[in-house]
Amino acid sequence: MTLDEQKQAAARESLRFLRDGMVVGLGTGSTATYAVRLIGERVRAGLKIRGIPSSIQTQQLAQELGIPLTNFDECQQIDLSIDGADEFDPQLHLIKGGGGAMLREKIVASATEKFVIVADSTKQVAMLGKFPVPVEVIPFAQALVAKEIAALGASVKMRLDKSGNKYVTDEKNHILDCTFGKIPDPVALSAQLKSIPGIVEHGLFVDMADVVLLATDAGVQEIRKPK
Ligand code: A5P
Repeated sequence: MTLDEQKQAAARESLRFLRDGMVVGLGTGSTATYAVRLIGERVRAGLKIRGIPSSIQTQQLAQELGIPLTNFDECQQIDLSIDGADEFDPQLHLIKGGGGAMLREKIVASATEKFVIVADSTKQVAMLGKFPVPVEVIPFAQALVAKEIAALGASVKMRLDKSGNKYVTDEKNHILDCTFGKIPDPVALSAQLKSIPGIVEHGLFVDMADVVLLATDAGVQEIRKPK
């Protein structure tokens, strides 16, 4: 299977968690997009759900697909969220935000009863850290925050968009991509990052995922969070 076929296979498998009446968190990124498209097909075939998108991009896609949407003003509890990840470890801790949407993704995940990750075979790691941890920072504080994170031992890079300008998130912030090398204690690093003023959110998702649907050439494996 190509990576794209793996992403599609994982996305297809996630549909079995859907039920009529659910509020569903809609993820962002290439794998989650496959899931959103498939959810759109189910909706057109009669499935009754309401979605809460985790980015403006996903919101636009869901609207094009005819998926009814709601928001946190109307509803503060999500039954199921389906999203991708850049890395997951054996505890199902994640790095997310390669697509720049981790702030809204984490808010959606935090309000979710069952958080399902759809992943291709490149996303499974023994220890997080090969992928940089994206950190969303308010523009006013970016240089200060970059210095503080570098002092934790990371190499820190400002994310740029395709035109070479500073990347701007849905919430009008910037992203610092922070390479720590291996992260043996994501719980501690998550708390450290959260304590730095000027950081809005970061891409370490600790203890949030319930299930990873991992697609490999052997098929799609369901990995549950260890008890
Ligand atoms: C978006 O901000 C991210 O968190 C994505 O979910 C993550 O980067 C995985 O993306 P792909 O499915 O495109 O690999």
